[in-house]
Amino acid sequence: MSKPILIAHGLKKKINGKQIIKNVDIEIYPGEVYGFLGPNGAGKSTTLRMLVGLSKPSAGSVFIGDYSLKNNFSKAMDLIGCIIEKPEFYEYISGYRNLEMLASMSDKYIKSDIDEFVSFVGLENRIHDRVSEYSMGMKQRLGLAQALLHRPKLLILDEPTNGLDPQGIYTLREIIKKLVIEKEIAVLISSHLISEIQLMCDKVSIINHGEIIKSAKVESILSTSEIFWEISDLRSAKKILKEKFEIDGIIKDNQLIAVIDKENLSLINETFIKENIKIKYVYKNNKTLEELFLDLTIGQQIL
Ligand SMILES: Nc1ncnc2c1ncn2[C@@H]1O[C@H](COP(=O)(O)OP(=O)(O)O)[C@@H](O)[C@H]1O
Ligand SMILES: [Mg+2]
Repeated sequence: MSKPILIAHGLKKKINGKQIIKNVDIEIYPGEVYGFLGPNGAGKSTTLRMLVGLSKPSAGSVFIGDYSLKNNFSKAMDLIGCIIEKPEFYEYISGYRNLEMLASMSDKYIKSDIDEFVSFVGLENRIHDRVSEYSMGMKQRLGLAQALLHRPKLLILDEPTNGLDPQGIYTLREIIKKLVIEKEIAVLISSHLISEIQLMCDKVSIINHGEIIKSAKVESILSTSEIFWEISDLRSAKKILKEKFEIDGIIKDNQLIAVIDKENLSLINETFIKENIKIKYVYKNNKTLEELFLDLTIGQQIL
């Protein structure tokens, strides 16, 4: 397996005596689209700002590839492209001229790459118009071209769909897919919208009150179900679940309840039957990412 492109370990941030980020660990691998999901005020932007060196962690470490953000800042930053706040441009010159100015400021950028990234984000027909005439979606695509110009290995986007119309959101999703496939880069996207994470990401970490409360593959969350069995021998069934499948079930209201991967259900049922347990009734409650999110964050007042 390849090495992570980003490892953040034990990140903490105190602002004005208040512990905003309590403990955050993130590992992102090449080619992954990693979702950072949490309600408003959860600490997403504060965390992302620490990952891209816009703010200093009170504790913890960030490695981008082999480089420590603290000790090897510029090498680490070469590997990251990001849009944290809204991308800033000179409004009264063209998108192309904006990119050209950026490219001329540093030898990290190769001017001839401009055309490649302009067409990558689909702005070739409007790139010579003034930025002031661009829609939000177009400005964001220009921001992406700007963030990608130095060919980073990791792209970090803070709530990239905020303020975009459905067409803009769709286009962004397509660009992100293409980025991973064609340029083999990893993408970290924060969002407060579950549906967005579900559509775009391979993995998700859910953050609330400055702490990651769950990290998992989106696929495995979606394939997880809560199963309720009404069966003849609850205790033996619970034991079988534990011994043969390493699943912890609970007995409640004369039912055995367990959270399992849906794919295993028929095998579990067959095993119960083989062990002479009579199944009267099986009920499946699919856990969506939304339900999981609500289960995990419910009752936690956002301050
Ligand atoms: N510079 C700051 N000073 C004081 N509080 C801050 C500052 N930045 C963020 N916060 C607080 O930290 C918490 C997390 O904010 P933020 O990271 O912006 O959340 P999110 O991006 O998930 O919506 C919020 O309660 C916010 O009010
Ligand atoms: Mg934010």
